[in-house]
Amino acid sequence: MSIVPFDQREGVIWMNGEFVPWKDAKVHVLTHGLHYGSGVFEGERAYGGEIFKLTEHTQRLFDSAEMLDMKIPFTVAEIDAACRETLKRQGFADAYVRPIVWRGSEMMGVAAQNTKINVAIAIWQWPSYFDPTQLEKGIRLDIAEFRRPDPMTAPSKAKAVGLYMICTISKHKAERKGYADAMMLDWRGQVAECTGANIFFVKNGEIHTPTPDCFLDGITRRTVIGLAQKRQLKVIERAIMPEELAGFEQCFIVGTAAEVTPVGEIGPYKFSVGDLTRTLRVDYLNEVQPKKKAA
Ligand SMILES: Cc1ncc(COP(=O)(O)O)c(C=O)c1O
Repeated sequence: MSIVPFDQREGVIWMNGEFVPWKDAKVHVLTHGLHYGSGVFEGERAYGGEIFKLTEHTQRLFDSAEMLDMKIPFTVAEIDAACRETLKRQGFADAYVRPIVWRGSEMMGVAAQNTKINVAIAIWQWPSYFDPTQLEKGIRLDIAEFRRPDPMTAPSKAKAVGLYMICTISKHKAERKGYADAMMLDWRGQVAECTGANIFFVKNGEIHTPTPDCFLDGITRRTVIGLAQKRQLKVIERAIMPEELAGFEQCFIVGTAAEVTPVGEIGPYKFSVGDLTRTLRVDYLNEVQPKKKAA
C-alpha cells in the first residue's frame, strides 16, 4: 500500500490563527522546537462530526505547554473553535485531530525566552491504529528496554514531544521483533503504559491499572474507568509489578488513537480476549458517538 507522505496531502491546516493550504504549512530548519524538543501536542478523535472531549484535550494542551514554560497566545475556547472549524473545512465526520505547539525560530540558544509560541491544527483520517485483523486474538506487546522517567527527571505529565523519543525507539524495536507495540515500565520497574496508550488488566472480574503518577493519565483511561464503574465493575489503581502479569486473565490498552484494544501477549505472558474487554470496547465505541441533543 502506498501512503501519501504527510506533507503532501490536500486540505487546510490551521496555523497561528489562519488557514493555510496543507502543503504550505511549513517550519524552518532553524526552529527551537526541532532542536530542543520545545513542543507539546494533543491527539483527538472526531466521531460523527464532533470531537470527543475536545475541551479536555485543549485544556491538557495548555497544561502541557505551561509545564514546558510556554504560554499559548490563544484561549482554550479559541483553540476549541479552531479545531471545530478545521474539522468542518476538512469535511470529515470521523477523523484524527492533531494540535501542536512549538517554539519558533527567533532565538536558537537553549534559553529562548522571546521565541514565538506557534500553534497548528491538522486533521486527517486515521481509521485503525492497530491491524484490525489482530483485534480478535489481541495484539502482541514487547516489553521495552527504556522506562518512563522519574517526574523529578522530566515533565512526565506533559504530552511533550521530547517524551515521545522513548516511545518511538521502543515501538521500532518491538515492530522489528514482530510485535505490534511495546509496554514500558517506569523508572521504579513498575508497569507504566504503552507507547501511545494506557494499560489495564483483568483478574477475577476486577480491573487493575497502574496509578498514573509518572505517565499520562489518559482521557480515554479516565473515560474507560467511568464506563467500568457504571457497570459496577471494581477498578483498582495501584502499583503493578511485571511479575504479576502471569496472574492476569485479560489485558487491554486504551487511548484516543487505540480506543480499547485487546492484548493477547506481553513478552512471555499470555491473555485471553474475554467478555469484560469486549464489553468495555463496545461501551467506549458507543460513548464516543455524539450525544443526540434533547428536543
Ligand atoms: C504515551 C501515551 N500514554 C497514554 C495515552 C492515552 O492518552 P489519551 O487517552 O488521552 O489519548 C497516549 C495517547 O495520547 C500516549 O501517547
